[in-house]
Amino acid sequence: MAGYAAVGTAFDRLASGYEAIVETNPLHARMRERSLAWLEEAFGPGMHVLEAGCGTGTEAVHLARRGVRVTATDVSPRMVDLARARVRTEGLEDLVAVRALAAGDLGDALRGASFDGAYSSFGALNCEPDLLRTLEGIARLLRPGAAFVASVVSRPCATELLAASLRLDLRRAFRRLRGDTGIGLYGLAEVRARAYSEGELLRSLAPRFVVERIEGWLVALPPPYLSRTWARLGPLRRPFDALDGRLAVAWPFRAWGDHLHVFARRRTP
Ligand SMILES: C[S@@+](CC[C@H](N)C(=O)[O-])C[C@H]1O[C@@H](n2cnc3c(N)ncnc32)[C@H](O)[C@@H]1O
Repeated sequence: MAGYAAVGTAFDRLASGYEAIVETNPLHARMRERSLAWLEEAFGPGMHVLEAGCGTGTEAVHLARRGVRVTATDVSPRMVDLARARVRTEGLEDLVAVRALAAGDLGDALRGASFDGAYSSFGALNCEPDLLRTLEGIARLLRPGAAFVASVVSRPCATELLAASLRLDLRRAFRRLRGDTGIGLYGLAEVRARAYSEGELLRSLAPRFVVERIEGWLVALPPPYLSRTWARLGPLRRPFDALDGRLAVAWPFRAWGDHLHVFARRRTP
């Protein structure tokens, strides 16, 4: 995993607190619910699927409990340790194998393998220096027609832009628009990452995948790191909750949320 030391170390710092942070965050929970729903739709019992950027293994364990075999990979040694421990605790070692691998290395490291699908949730792909090459590598491991489900940090994010501008924090307001940027990991570390516009994401997928569906997450709602401020608004939040569901699928608004989520299928070579 040469070249991935900085990103691995940053996520190592987040690892032990990661589950508690995201599971208690209502805005993140909203995205997790959608993510799991799409994974359940894409992958069924008996399939063998590949995960890029598994973190502590939440989604791999969720799928394995439904009979899906998962090869779960991550660049952070600490995340890998925690995911392995979780799989052991759940007694799912027969169904989940966890490996320390960067998403960009999967095509070479697992050469010859064939998976029934792949997925990558919540930003691992944003930390890859070459998205196109990473997707090419993953595609080589998939059988034709296999589902690929991915979520990436999107560019721009309207609510971040608005909230940060109101606080006169212009650096944060426009950071995603600059392309390569620093993304904070809940105050514990920062990683270099690239936020993707819908057009960039679709262009990177196009050579190897047919995109069937695209959704924006947290379009009318703020990013998860603003959840405490958001909670203070109480019942005033309700109309935004309803609006968020509508804008998630509405072009061009879906592209202005916190994350973009795609459901694609491997083209026949
Ligand atoms: C925000 S966490 C999401 C974890 C998990 N997918 C989930 O749904 O909870 C992002 C994960 O991607 C991993 N990651 C970041 N860059 C990566 C890369 N280039 N290759 C593989 N994993 C990466 C991090 O170590 C971290 O575990």
